[in-house]
Amino acid sequence: MNIEDRLFGKTSKGEKVFAFTFSNANGLEATVINYGAVLQSVMIPGADGGKEELTLGFDTLEEYESDQSYMGATIGRVAGRISGGKFSLDGKEYILAKNDGENHLHGGPEGFSRKVWDAFPFIMKNKAGVKLFLESEDGDQGYPGRVTVNLTVTMDEDNNLIFEYSAEATAPTPVNITNHAYWNLNGNSGGKVLDHVLYASSSRYVRHGRGYIPTGEILPSENTPFDFTHPSAIGSAMPPEGYDNYLILDKNEEKNKPDIILSHPETGRKISITTDAPGFILYTGNFLNGRSCRRGMLSKHDGLCIETMEYPDAVNQANFPDIILKPGEKYFRRTAVNISAE
Ligand code: GLA
Repeated sequence: MNIEDRLFGKTSKGEKVFAFTFSNANGLEATVINYGAVLQSVMIPGADGGKEELTLGFDTLEEYESDQSYMGATIGRVAGRISGGKFSLDGKEYILAKNDGENHLHGGPEGFSRKVWDAFPFIMKNKAGVKLFLESEDGDQGYPGRVTVNLTVTMDEDNNLIFEYSAEATAPTPVNITNHAYWNLNGNSGGKVLDHVLYASSSRYVRHGRGYIPTGEILPSENTPFDFTHPSAIGSAMPPEGYDNYLILDKNEEKNKPDIILSHPETGRKISITTDAPGFILYTGNFLNGRSCRRGMLSKHDGLCIETMEYPDAVNQANFPDIILKPGEKYFRRTAVNISAE
């Protein structure tokens, strides 16, 4: 294992941001920056000694500070939308910062993806990574209580990239943290992800209505575009607006089988995801049109996010599992991404 750190840039407020690059003996290389705890890059060896980039991202901090796509970012306190930007807890209503029309999205305008985290790189015999810490103050973005967040991103010699999130709170508050990396397994040549093939151990999905807000219904995905129990190309049954849907994981698979596998038949590249989250948002970069990244101008479906997380808008949906973290409890979630190439 190897690890290197360098100054990535300074925020508009003058805070220093560092980039931590870890790599293993197979030549897998990942970079995390402590602004937004962003996964800035994932590279694998390419032809002729070159490297192939598997995620979308930026080369400068300025672009991350002005980014509206949550490129590679850690999302919290609560990923996804909170309808009407409010929720009630123990008889009290909390008004959150709105950044998606009437709704609160991805932790709000100054959510975890906008903060500078404390970062401590580590290296051991068979793994290396970075431990990131964040204090979200009482009242941050309208949420109750102070929340202390730890995120450890680890790479090992078996090509796993592991995200372990933990959090504690001083008052009951919702917590639902994810990573918002955009994958494109075609590598440096990019293009659309519609030819990527998805397998997901998921036979139910959450229906949403206007503004991507769940209706509260949980529907079977058999014979719908949301059925990926048999691997199929993203583009084969995609709704015209693209995917932006919460798929519920079945969790009844035999051990050691990933919950989600995204593969790219043309290059033989594959990411296999194992998570303890109950489901994930499948998002096909529908809003990337006209945005730019290090690869140049993007158009929709140039990247795909697999946001492993709790049910969306859980604080306002009576029949969805609770996401309230109470003082004395510990939130813990782990998502492992195994990266391979034939
Ligand atoms: C999530 C949401 C999408 C969109 C993207 C970011 O995936 O569900 O609707 O907001 O993040 O653009």
